[in-house]
Amino acid sequence: MSKQFDVVVIGGGPGGYVAAIRAAQLGFNTACIDEWKNDKGEPAPGGTCTNVGCIPSKALLQSSEHFEHAGHSFADHGIGLKDLSIDVARMLGRKDSVVKQNNEGILYLFKKNKVTFFHGRGAFLKSGDAGYEIQVTGSTEEVISGRHIILATGSNPRALAGAAFDEDKILSNDGALRIGAVPKRLGVIGSGVIGLEMGSVWRRLGADVTVLEGLPTFLGAVDQQIAKEAHRAFTKQGLKIELGVKIEKVASGKSNVTISYANAKGEATKLEVDKLIVSIGRVPNTIGLNPEAVGLMLDERGAIAVDELCRTNLPHVWAVGDVVRGPMLAHKAEEEGVAVAERIAGQHPHVNFNTVPWVIYTSPEIAWVGQTEQQLKAEGREYKAGTFPFLANGRARAMGDTSGMVKMLADAKTDEILGVHIVGPLASELIAEAVVAMEFKASAEDIARICHAHPSLSESTKEAALAVDKRTLNF
Ligand code: FAD
Ligand code: NAI
Repeated sequence: MSKQFDVVVIGGGPGGYVAAIRAAQLGFNTACIDEWKNDKGEPAPGGTCTNVGCIPSKALLQSSEHFEHAGHSFADHGIGLKDLSIDVARMLGRKDSVVKQNNEGILYLFKKNKVTFFHGRGAFLKSGDAGYEIQVTGSTEEVISGRHIILATGSNPRALAGAAFDEDKILSNDGALRIGAVPKRLGVIGSGVIGLEMGSVWRRLGADVTVLEGLPTFLGAVDQQIAKEAHRAFTKQGLKIELGVKIEKVASGKSNVTISYANAKGEATKLEVDKLIVSIGRVPNTIGLNPEAVGLMLDERGAIAVDELCRTNLPHVWAVGDVVRGPMLAHKAEEEGVAVAERIAGQHPHVNFNTVPWVIYTSPEIAWVGQTEQQLKAEGREYKAGTFPFLANGRARAMGDTSGMVKMLADAKTDEILGVHIVGPLASELIAEAVVAMEFKASAEDIARICHAHPSLSESTKEAALAVDKRTLNF
């Protein structure tokens, strides 16, 4: 007889592993199946995020930022360095050990919460009265069954037609995190989140980086005042960003890649690079899940079709994270995973997409929550805007990092905060205050009246709130 579980989670990324932990906390006998393995073939739960996404990219961003500071800004602090060098192998080794710590952390959390872990691929076999039978194939080969199934099978990088990833010269996010030596010339197709983060890493380490973007607007989803400021900063750092291009052909040579494209003026142009990162978005992943066996419905994008509560077309089958609609973000996946576990337990949680923060971990960092000015204009909503530059913030000056600003948008009549947009130091941390404020439906005045520690970067958020009412104190 197959092992029976109340809840079986397929996929151990941030959506899946967190859903499994929450289900177990709620008293369900829970299993989580994940197939990711490390170079030694060992289980490596944590999904894209832990293995080839959020965590390793932030490790490399940190290392490369240290290198950039050592080379460019330490001297301002009176710190002299001779013979600065980068040991790429060691940097990658450190990144790998950070990843491993996270893999092991998840296995520990499974044990602690009594989640049964299966290392292998989970595929639907059939549905029956007792729920769904799932074939596990991998380190363990067996059939298990679950009354409730949570699908969290994530996403894969989208390849450019005619330029398959070889992870040697044409790189997805995976290869981009493993380049063994700083390439002289690095091309990036797509100036989205991955392109900017990975482009920044290798530029800081000395690569000549050119980013080719199809759209005519830089970071179109970002508040355009913030995007323009970021564009200026990245260009000043030496990142070459070409907008409005049309990629015609990518040809891989022995040790180089040639990209033929039409530039924004329509002129035929060629770019030759040593490595090319293709970061043009990701596609939902249902490979090997065998959805046909049970009649699971996918949408036209290949995502698992779900309603606003993450219910699929099948009873007791739920789906969360990158494999469903909505932003492809680890924290969105986690929120959905927790909410589904709680719904299975009969609770009524709510995931508010309007307060899901976004962060791009470049330098300066870009972070935002809520609506952009261009969205409010398009809606015809009356709003007030307040901005405060880090140039006028004492902590930013002391840190020597004064680029960027905090921008707050509030309803013209009620003063409710509608969006907060930050470009500048530690924007990733500063945005949390804005998320809390918006979750609690705070007004700009609420933030303006709250005492913020001095000197701190967060005073800029208070000042932006004061600016909404045209009464900044320090600018
Ligand atoms: P995934 O993390 O993709 O996990 C899915 C898991 O399911 C994988 O382990 C996979 O092997 C497993 N799986 C799939 N099918 C099966 C099956 N049939 N049986 C068993 N196992 C299966 N987001 C952020 O919020 N912040 C960031 O800083 C950030 N940085 C990123 C950087 C990069 C380079 C990339 C590529 C992504 C980044 N993301 C970031 C996005 C983030 O990684 C994803 O949104 C997140 O991982 C989605 O979580 P998930 O659980 O839905 O899927
Ligand atoms: P993206 O959607 O962020 O950016 C893709 C870019 O490629 C867009 O600007 C798009 O216009 C452009 N593009 C698409 N097709 C093109 C073509 N043929 N030629 C030229 N340009 C083209 O996707 P990306 O960077 O691949 O990242 C995928 C997702 O992973 C992100 O959307 C995000 O959800 C997640 N992620 C999140 C991070 C974070 O939260 N810090 C970091 C990295 C990834």
